[in-house]
Amino acid sequence: MSFIEQLNWRYATKRMVADKAVPQEKVNAIVEAIRLSASSYGLQPYNLLVIQDKELLKKIQPIAYNQPQIGETSTLLVFAVWDKPTQERIDAYFNLIASERGIPVEALAGFKTTVEGTISNLDEATAYNWMARQAYIALGTGLAAAAIENVDATPMEGFNPAGLDELLGLTEKGLKSVVILPLGYRDEANDPLASAKKVRKSTEDFVISL
Ligand SMILES: Cc1cc2nc3c(=O)[nH]c(=O)nc-3n(C[C@H](O)[C@H](O)[C@H](O)COP(=O)(O)O)c2cc1C
Repeated sequence: MSFIEQLNWRYATKRMVADKAVPQEKVNAIVEAIRLSASSYGLQPYNLLVIQDKELLKKIQPIAYNQPQIGETSTLLVFAVWDKPTQERIDAYFNLIASERGIPVEALAGFKTTVEGTISNLDEATAYNWMARQAYIALGTGLAAAAIENVDATPMEGFNPAGLDELLGLTEKGLKSVVILPLGYRDEANDPLASAKKVRKSTEDFVISL
């Protein structure tokens, strides 16, 4: 199947088959695609939590307004951004570039000053929004990767981030949940959207050619 065919196949699944777990190698492939996602400056100002503990998933469901997918998924991915883009985190990134590329960190001084200059001027809300945008790019990569793997996935903002942060101890980890992605297999018998036509703007309405 082509990429476009898989994007037509995928949809935000409302009901998943509860006893059909996604094989770990497919989960790994989706996680790897997310890890390889592009981010501004390459900073990756977020972490990915992979939750497969059934008891924990049961506790998350009410935090996600009892959406059924959370009770039915075998793997929930949580995208969580840094609480703050601290100097320590920026230093760690530049040390990583230096060690991966085998160059002295001093050789990156110009680039580092640019990154620090941009980020240190952001107020808290703007910094959060900027980091969340990076996480959403990764979400998109994850959605596409799931489709390629023939795995269903539902992007979800319908949850209480403060409640999830508390349950998962994210505040102590210096993180804030932004968006979640349960993985599974569509329950065609119980999900009316499984057979619904995909609705998108026509190319004429969508593309502005100049
Ligand atoms: C950022 C984001 C948040 C979403 N939140 C939810 C959600 O909480 N629950 C849900 O069932 N669907 C959610 N959706 C799914 C959208 O409603 C769905 O992607 C949209 O209607 C387009 O349909 P399709 O993805 O099935 O093609 C969300 C989608 C995105 C991109």
